[in-house]
Amino acid sequence: MSDDAEWLVELGAAPSPAQFLYRDVIARQRAAYSSFARGYEVDAERRETWAGRWLQPAMRHIDLGGRKKSAVRVLDVGSGIGTFAGHLAREGFDVWAIDIADEMVKRTRARLRGVYGSDAQRRAVRGSFMEHDFASQRFDLILGVAFVHCLPKPVDVLAMRKMARLLTPDGIAYLTTTDEPDGGEALALKDAMRGERDGTLMRRYRTRYTPTQFIERIRASGLTPWSWPRQGAPVELDRSTPSNNMPIFQDTHVRRKRWVDVVATRSGVPLPMPTVYAGAAEPARSHEKPPTAPLAVVG
Ligand SMILES: C[S@@+](CC[C@H](N)C(=O)[O-])C[C@H]1O[C@@H](n2cnc3c(N)ncnc32)[C@H](O)[C@@H]1O
Repeated sequence: MSDDAEWLVELGAAPSPAQFLYRDVIARQRAAYSSFARGYEVDAERRETWAGRWLQPAMRHIDLGGRKKSAVRVLDVGSGIGTFAGHLAREGFDVWAIDIADEMVKRTRARLRGVYGSDAQRRAVRGSFMEHDFASQRFDLILGVAFVHCLPKPVDVLAMRKMARLLTPDGIAYLTTTDEPDGGEALALKDAMRGERDGTLMRRYRTRYTPTQFIERIRASGLTPWSWPRQGAPVELDRSTPSNNMPIFQDTHVRRKRWVDVVATRSGVPLPMPTVYAGAAEPARSHEKPPTAPLAVVG
């Protein structure tokens, strides 16, 4: 058994309800997100325009320390259509990706092909993050943008534990989810076309977290979650962190939607000082969908 299958042992040697649930969830996510891919693609122009802005909370902590960007290895977990992987590849980072849904991987590969040619096939893996064996590969930045909440408990924590193992000693994970009023897991309908005509309505699995619950799940994985409020010093996040120090951001386009965008390091590793991330300029909003609130820390 490879190291990457150790988590199965933690769930128990005999198939447990959690394992049955997990297998069911995996099959459902694979089918559901494949059918959502076209909806994501309809929105691709907006996503690509905003990708740098959305990655800013993590990218400002990437300490190049004299390295070329091509020496900074990135893994995009649950890469979707490859918006972020493509953006960072075009910026010159050494980008790898994994997604479980066939249609998503095809699109991630198409975006990476512009930079890596035929090597895009190898760089974007079609598979489940928990089962894939990354062998000796280690990453300076691991993106889990709207990914962890696709997994049922306790696999969410085990996935972040695996991310911690895959990070270089001073690597950073970027873990995002939506700010929910209450936790819970359920099959929920997703309208992948966001109201466009002929939208795709399908149930996919979704774990919901309050900001504090999300922070606690990250801590349970052994990663250290951080915030770096505008006022100054880094704050290590835990259940007692007041909401004005939580990294909660208004969605750039959808009213009443807020994100919890957390940068995390391996335990005992401080968060590098923030720098200016050149790719993060606020894009112009002409030809954008509806009016928006400015991105701001809530609190
Ligand atoms: C909500 S989407 C986010 C996509 C992308 N990160 C973004 O922000 O545009 C979640 C993605 O995770 C993928 N996914 C879900 N479970 C997965 C798993 N176990 N392993 C790899 N990818 C998975 C889905 O197929 C989907 O593309």
